[in-house]
Amino acid sequence: MNKVIISPSILSADFANLERDIKRIEEAGADWVHVDVMDGHFVPNITIGAPVVKAIRKVTSLPLEVHLMIENPDKYIKDFVDAGSDIITIHQEACSNNLKEILETIRVFGIKAGVSIKPNTPVKVLEEVITNLDLILIMTVEPGFGGQGFIQECLPKIKETRDLLNHYELTDVHIEVDGGINQETAKLVIEAGANALVAGSYIYNSQNIQAAIDSLRC
Ligand code: DX5
Ligand code: ZN
Repeated sequence: MNKVIISPSILSADFANLERDIKRIEEAGADWVHVDVMDGHFVPNITIGAPVVKAIRKVTSLPLEVHLMIENPDKYIKDFVDAGSDIITIHQEACSNNLKEILETIRVFGIKAGVSIKPNTPVKVLEEVITNLDLILIMTVEPGFGGQGFIQECLPKIKETRDLLNHYELTDVHIEVDGGINQETAKLVIEAGANALVAGSYIYNSQNIQAAIDSLRC
């Protein structure tokens, strides 16, 4: 896992021109497409649901990484699998009683399972499900909105996560970082041990999407 994976968040795309904006990142060498699903309960914002994922599936062959910022994610896993998700990431804080079970459900569908933790959630909560996941998503902003500033205090959690995975010899599990990623913060999180980056506003607000994506891989 040497190459850094870039997963642009379409939350910052133009929703009236979603196909065009997905083709743009695809042509610029994006590795995955990051889809932010928000329910207005787990986070104070509402975005999109499974029908939009299904529509996106038809216009790109890139892996679709669906970040579920919703309560009771277990109720919706099948919908997002049927819509064509390749990776489904749920929040630890949304399912503290049945986290392992939901991760197993996702994997039984034959796709990858991820767990995300918010800035104030400690890395140690991941330990009980460490063998049940394919991806850990470390939030470096409070989930809910694009365009926020990177929370520096989250940086040690990335190194801690890398140490945890090394301890269990889980070298294939991705460590992805989401929130406030730009050229400067990308360097910091890669140094700390991340191998996958989500970036929304930095990529979509740039004049040159190709250059923005390239600049994150440094
Ligand atoms: C925030 C979302 C992020 C967001 C990132 O809740 O999970 O994926 O779109 O946006 P930027 O890169 O602008 O911080
Ligand atoms: Zn996200």
